[in-house]
Order: sequence, then structure tokens, then C-alpha cells
Amino acid sequence: MSAVRHLYVHVPFCAHRCGYCDFTTVTGHDERHAAYVDALVAELAVRGGCLADPLETVYLGGGTPSRLGPDLLGALLERLPGAQAETTVECNPEDVTDDLARVLAARGCRVSLGAQTFAPELLAVLERRTGPDGVRAAVGRLRAAGVASLSLDLIFGIPGERADDLERDLDALVELAPDHVSAYELEAKPGTRFTVHHGAALVEQAERLEDHLDRVIDRLGAAGYDWYEVASFARGPGHRAVHNTAYWQGRDYLGLGIGAVSTVAGERRANGPRLAAYLDDPAGAPHALEPIDAETAARERLMLGLRLADGVALDGDLAGLVDPAGVDRLVRAGVARHEGGTLRLERRGRMLLHDCVKEILR
Ligand SMILES: C[S@@+](CC[C@H](N)C(=O)[O-])C[C@H]1O[C@@H](n2cnc3c(N)ncnc32)[C@H](O)[C@@H]1O
Ligand code: SF4
Repeated sequence: MSAVRHLYVHVPFCAHRCGYCDFTTVTGHDERHAAYVDALVAELAVRGGCLADPLETVYLGGGTPSRLGPDLLGALLERLPGAQAETTVECNPEDVTDDLARVLAARGCRVSLGAQTFAPELLAVLERRTGPDGVRAAVGRLRAAGVASLSLDLIFGIPGERADDLERDLDALVELAPDHVSAYELEAKPGTRFTVHHGAALVEQAERLEDHLDRVIDRLGAAGYDWYEVASFARGPGHRAVHNTAYWQGRDYLGLGIGAVSTVAGERRANGPRLAAYLDDPAGAPHALEPIDAETAARERLMLGLRLADGVALDGDLAGLVDPAGVDRLVRAGVARHEGGTLRLERRGRMLLHDCVKEILR
């Protein structure tokens, strides 16, 4: 078994639960932050034997890692193994104080900051707590502290969003000159309060998503960002998200914390979602454990790899999975290139990713 080079650490705490969010989160329980950090370290001690030394990437996601505050976040970063290529910390704008920014900069962290939109009325639809000025202030503090790589998250397809709202969001984003942008179409889970409340507006947005994505790609491309993955844009290859790229390349990773998923040596494990149970027994029995057979692993690698502008090599286990006639059809339709054994989707192809994958699977 080759050693695992990527570590994900889930920090579930949030000040408030945003209506659209489907991540494993916990509101309140601020008094348990320190115990949770201890539990993460205890889980690492039990389950970290598979990790490479040094690691390539560490990613603290949430929830809201920045909610731990500068002292505890700094302590957690000290107690985790270092990473050669990248350590990313997800932050919410309202948590970014000068002290927090200094802690992140001092440890060479890349920061992923949730902006989502700069329109106050759309922030209200998303039930976000911070206004656009809060996002700008957070960016200013992170830059002033010397954070070397900053990514901003944008969401499009928000109920009530028009094309000119998105154009203004993109202008505001470009003005802040982040090194990386993640631009997600809003996913609303059926049956949630958010979906019930915004049902008709979400249907309307679903019809605009392609148009919205076209605008995002054009505007960010014109501003010098490279569209290197379906939802990701970088100001040069040095600012691509290394940890996320490892996911898209189908590499193994270890996940710590409640709700965290791991994929190690042909097995996928999900940790349980309950805070109290985790604090009692951080490396307890998994919530779910499933073997990933070779064909499933190959399908996932194809689906994820085709998200990348660099595409995916159709060799090894992928060769048996892919129908060459389907590949030819994509190439003839002008939505893909197949050169030197590597299949890359063109812009239209990446926008129609799922249809393209269906077309080429045997
Ligand atoms: C783990 S989440 C949250 C990070 C941080 N707590 C925040 O709110 O900014 C990371 C990113 O996923 C995106 N996201 C979360 N829920 C989403 C949804 N339902 N649809 C699309 N993007 C979503 C947001 O852009 C968010 O910044
Ligand atoms: S979007 Fe971020 S802040 Fe809002 S509930 Fe989800 S993880 Fe928490």
C-alpha cells in the first residue's frame, strides 16, 4: 500500500446554518471547540499510520475552521503534520481578524474565503451573515498579513439572480484580485426548507445555469484566470488548488473529524456525523465502510479527471471502461480532443460533463 499524501480535517462549527448548506455542521457548542481539536489529534494518532511523511497537502474545511479563532486554529495547525505543497484553511469573512490573518500567514496557509455574492439582497436569500464590505475587509486583512494565496468562493444561480447581478459580482470579485476563484452553481437539496421556500425561483435559475457559467468563464478568462477545472479558476498554474486537484485525480486521502470521508487502499470510509459521539470516541467505528472495486474506482477517476482542463489519460484500467466509438463521437462533435492517449473536454464538453461521460462509458 502506498502512503497517503493528502489529509482532510473537518471543522464543523458555524455561527449559523445557511439555508442552502448541506455540509456536516454544528451551531452553538463553542465551549467544545478545544475538546474537538483534541479529538482530531486523537483520531490522527489512531488512523494516521497510512500517511506519508511529508504530506503533500492538508485541507481544513468545514463548517468553518476560522470559527476556532486564532489561538485554537494556530494550535491545531501546530499539532497536524506539515504539508510540502499546500495547507488550505476555509474561512468565513466575519472571523477574519488581524490576529487570525497573522496566524494563517505565519504558517504559510492558503486561504479559501466564502464570499458567495456581493449583492446584499442575494446574500440575504442565502442567509449569509456578512455583507459585501465584510468580505472586502477580510481580503484586506489577509493580504496585509501576507497570506500568499487567496481563493474566493462564488455561488451563482441564487433565487432572484439576474445576469446583471452576476456581472456585478464578477466585477467585484475581479477587483479584489484573488489568486484563485471557485465558482459553484447553487445546489439545493430536494425537500429542504430552502428548496421548499424558493422552489419556483430555483426552477427559473436552473434554466439560466448554462448562461451563468458562460458569463463566469468569459469574465474570469478576460481577467487572466485559467479555467482549469469545471468550477475552478487560477491566476497561473502556481495558484491551482493542489489538494482539490488530488481529489479530481482520484488520489487517496485521509479525512478526520465528524462526517469526514476517507478513501484509502480501495476502501471508502465515512465518519459519523454526531459531535458528542465523536468527542467520546474519535476513532470509533465508522459510520459507513465500503470497498471500492476496480471498476468503480476507474469510473470515478474518469468522471473526476474529465473535470480538469488537462483531461485524463485513457490508459490502464480506463482503457477497458471507455468506448472508442463514443470518444470519436465527442471529438467529431467538437466537444473533446483525444491526443497522445489523453482525452480533454473542450469548453462545451466540460459544461455538459455528465452527458459526455455517459456517451463514452461502455
Ligand atoms: C464547506 S463550504 C463552507 C465554507 C465556509 N463555511 C463558508 O460558508 O464560506 C465551502 C464552499 O462550498 C460552497 N457551497 C456550500 N454549499 C453549497 C451549495 N448548496 N451549492 C453550491 N455551493 C455551495 C460555498 O461556496 C462555500 O464557500
Ligand atoms: S455555508 Fe459555511 S457558514 Fe454556512 S452553514 Fe455551510 S459551512 Fe456553515
